[in-house]
Amino acid sequence: MSATLNPRPRIDVPPTVRETLAPDERAALREQCRELLRANDAVLVAHYYTAPEIQELADDTGGYVSDSLDMARFGHEHPAATLVVAGVRFMGETAKILNPEKRVLMPDLAAECSLDLGCPPDEFSAFCDAHPDRTVVVYANTSAAVKARADWMVTSGSALDVVRHLDARGEKILWAPDRYLGEYVQTATGADMLLWNGACVVHEEFKGEELAELKRAHPEARVLVHPESPAPVVALADYVGSTSGLINEVRSAPNDTFIVATDSGIFHKMREAAPGKTLIEAPTAGRSATCRSCAACPWMAMNGLRKLREALLVGERHEIRVPADIAERARRPIARLLEFAAARKQEIYGNNDA
Ligand code: 13P
Ligand code: SF4
Repeated sequence: MSATLNPRPRIDVPPTVRETLAPDERAALREQCRELLRANDAVLVAHYYTAPEIQELADDTGGYVSDSLDMARFGHEHPAATLVVAGVRFMGETAKILNPEKRVLMPDLAAECSLDLGCPPDEFSAFCDAHPDRTVVVYANTSAAVKARADWMVTSGSALDVVRHLDARGEKILWAPDRYLGEYVQTATGADMLLWNGACVVHEEFKGEELAELKRAHPEARVLVHPESPAPVVALADYVGSTSGLINEVRSAPNDTFIVATDSGIFHKMREAAPGKTLIEAPTAGRSATCRSCAACPWMAMNGLRKLREALLVGERHEIRVPADIAERARRPIARLLEFAAARKQEIYGNNDA
């Protein structure tokens, strides 16, 4: 069973504006940020969709670049007193909820996510109240207040495993907020899921028909799709997975050419992982075009070196704060996922970490 009930709230999508830097300025900012990270006992944790210079700085300073599950895990396990999260707001909130004793800074607190914005806590809470017999599973891309109402949090890299686990226990699921990821999980697991009607403005714009055409023009290409994409796009995929999963495919699959349906920021790490391979963006434009983001998340683009330096210099205006009562309730579904994911990893790899 699967249904969507709520009308979609209107979301104002800002234009995608990336920081532009002359080479000298970029080099100077990098050095200043490196020094400020050290002086603040801070570590930089970045998402794959952020600008190459942010990812490089994280890699060069002992920080981390990854998907949302591993960003949470890394920040939780790292001893630094300050976590600087370059990504979108829910990633900073997750870090703060898991690490209340640490200071969590973000380059820009206005870096939102359409999934989070499309799931207001009060309406979501009413939706949960109307279905008390269901286990509430929310995607990481939600506010702390929505997580506080949930039984489980999942990420794109863990959703299938968690839902299979719950389905095997006979639990019916209330899922929010990404209806496309929900439909994908529902189809793959056969679980009984009631879906909130939310979407990622970036992935929703990938086009099935145009992708099929592109696939015909490149029959040798392996098609990689993030599961926030609509069903007709997912149906054309050779591989569906989290951002880490997509990068791993480019590294390990024998193909030389890949068509990639996710934010184009990921190409930086894909090129590093497999320098000789050809990467083609899946179409967001074409006959059915409504392209508002053109495969570039406007909120991820708000992360730049200038703002990162400012965050490390002035702290305050860039600090993530989550009210203690909400944080306490939101910690439960997040910690549950981390424990579940660690146990799965142990099952699969034993003591050989992978
Ligand atoms: P991942 O957890 O796969 O990195 O996804 C996060 C996200 O926001 C994708 O749009
Ligand atoms: Fe949210 Fe989509 Fe941006 Fe990911 S790409 S942060 S899901 S708006």
